[in-house]
Amino acid sequence: MTIQWFPGHMAKARREVTEQLKMVDCVFELLDARIPYSSSNPMISDIIKDKPRVVLLNKMDMADPRETKKWMQHIEQTGAYPVMIDSKNGKNLNMVVKAAEEVTKEKFERLAAKGLRPRAIRAMIVGIPNVGKSTLINRLAKKTIAKTGNTPGLTKKQQWIKVGKTLELLDTPGILWPKFEDQIVGKKLSLTGAIKDTIVHLDEVAIYGLEYLQQHDINTLNKHYNIQIEADDPYLTIFDQIGLSRGMKNKGNEIDYESVIELVVRDIRNAKIGRYTFDRVEELAADEAE
Ligand code: G4P
Repeated sequence: MTIQWFPGHMAKARREVTEQLKMVDCVFELLDARIPYSSSNPMISDIIKDKPRVVLLNKMDMADPRETKKWMQHIEQTGAYPVMIDSKNGKNLNMVVKAAEEVTKEKFERLAAKGLRPRAIRAMIVGIPNVGKSTLINRLAKKTIAKTGNTPGLTKKQQWIKVGKTLELLDTPGILWPKFEDQIVGKKLSLTGAIKDTIVHLDEVAIYGLEYLQQHDINTLNKHYNIQIEADDPYLTIFDQIGLSRGMKNKGNEIDYESVIELVVRDIRNAKIGRYTFDRVEELAADEAE
């Protein structure tokens, strides 16, 4: 579902998450492992403040494993606890519970020292739309929990879901807004399906994706579409070759660019061509140094 975020929505989302945060011991910040920077909320640190934070790199099955490893190290250096997961297939979910135990250890030791009885750790999931919050909640709950719409403000009675003996999870995730200002971030969000097609121009998204593959993995690109692209070919040549190879032509026997664009975006989004990570730790480090 596509949301248009307006300042009112953002203020409301922030208020709601801030309210929910009061009830929990730690936060699971869910990111898309293919774009850990672009899928984060721009104000997340301000919102979470010093609440212990576990960063979950979700959709690891679609990201480049070497890059995910680098992101894990980077996140650890920032003081958060990283875990890479695949919520769709239920991979590494036991690590999520372990991470919650680790980041709340000191707090619970303090409580125990004061003579308080041990209780389950309380946690909530936050993240931008489509990063997989509902999928993860359902996996952890081992049943299907009704999905709250992707808009903040839908209030329903919140319940705790038991995850094993040590963890309780709020059944409603905190929905936060994505970064919009940066055009490249917008393209990456679209390329990974975090924002759907109406906001950004799909042709620009396809061009961005194809040029990324042309630079980083040209052989796989050529093989996947049975084409022969050179490193310096313009994007129109790539569109033409894909259109020809797939027989995508319109009535006038010309290449049907719209179909080519849709195909390319769909294939990259679903990791049909390969597993790619579009945000690089090195680029982030270079940005921060400027
Ligand atoms: P949200 O609550 O954060 O908005 O996201 P949601 O769980 O609805 O997930 C968005 C899409 O991402 C869903 O696909 C879901 O299946 C997929 N997804 C979630 N986690 C993972 C993961 O770890 N790996 C992969 N490969 N996909 C994941 P969809 O196309 O919208 O629906 P469907 O195809 O599952 O029916």
